[in-house]
Amino acid sequence: MVDRIAARRVVDIITGAWQSQALYAAVALDIPDHIAAGHTTDEKLAAAAGASEDGITRLMRLLTAMQVFDGTGEDGYRPTAVSELLREEADQSMKDMVRIYGEEFHRAWGAVVPAIRSGTSGFTHAFGVSLHTYLRGEASAGLKFQRAMNAGNVFFPDVLDAFDFSKAGTVVDVAGGSGALLATVLRAHPEVHGVLFDQPHMVPIARRHLDAAVGPGRYEAVGGDVFQGVPGGADAYLLARVLQDWDDERCVQLLSHIRRAMPDGSRLLILERVIPRDGSAMLPLLWDLHLLMAAGGRERQLSGYQDVLRAAGLRLESVHPLALETSLLVAAPV
Ligand SMILES: C[S@@+](CC[C@H](N)C(=O)[O-])C[C@H]1O[C@@H](n2cnc3c(N)ncnc32)[C@H](O)[C@@H]1O
Repeated sequence: MVDRIAARRVVDIITGAWQSQALYAAVALDIPDHIAAGHTTDEKLAAAAGASEDGITRLMRLLTAMQVFDGTGEDGYRPTAVSELLREEADQSMKDMVRIYGEEFHRAWGAVVPAIRSGTSGFTHAFGVSLHTYLRGEASAGLKFQRAMNAGNVFFPDVLDAFDFSKAGTVVDVAGGSGALLATVLRAHPEVHGVLFDQPHMVPIARRHLDAAVGPGRYEAVGGDVFQGVPGGADAYLLARVLQDWDDERCVQLLSHIRRAMPDGSRLLILERVIPRDGSAMLPLLWDLHLLMAAGGRERQLSGYQDVLRAAGLRLESVHPLALETSLLVAAPV
């Protein structure tokens, strides 16, 4: 006799992937924007999206059951708080996040078996180049990736409560991307000067973002390579979602460069997910496997962060929980 509960569990897990691809289809067809523009019935949505009406009816029936939309195809669909986040113009729109997970990362997950067998990035198996090389070469993918990172930023403001920046003269955001975390700090602390450090191709993107967020004059944007060195002499260094992309050896290399740049009283603020020892938190576990599929990186247990910090001449001083099961780890020179 088949265990029906177990069989149902297997089916639920299999169909989970279909839900994310259905959400991706809605975004790729701009359905949330079309509904906001008044194309609310199946017929009008199909015309606006250039899609078959039958396809739209079936897609929208599922997405309505998933509570992404409300209403019906005859009387008209209505947006929900979820679909509002998927509009192009939404504040911190998650549209590009859904797109990159439905496109590049979906293809990378297709290589899950060779990735697990070899312990190396699914993305590299699927695309023939690493995620970082791909993002450097494809400007539109780089922008989509950065927007996806920004959409996942909801825990950045929590850092202001967890760490006192009022005595920091200069803050360097190492591999800071478009500078969203640095902008959060600079907006809250008008006396702080910021340095955004990232790869040279990211500098113009960061400048555009920081000019709009805090204005020129509050920061410098410096291009470089974290494995060669980082700007020195700052009171605080930010390192958000960077260690997750690298193996222990590379983490120790880049942390050693930061340690050499830090004056004795300086602090390093690391934002990452920490895998609990009992494996109870689902999000860090999901993200850990996703990082193997993407850049070939990993989430770590607290002891894993302590090991790479110690090897770089740093010690973990305190840990603070942030939103979305993310943590702030504050490290000091030994
Ligand atoms: C996952 S993103 C995190 C960006 C940002 N800290 C955030 O949390 O939004 C990783 C960043 O590392 C940067 N990066 C990768 N390799 C680098 C290198 N060798 N030197 C400097 N930055 C690098 C990328 O350009 C990207 O902005």
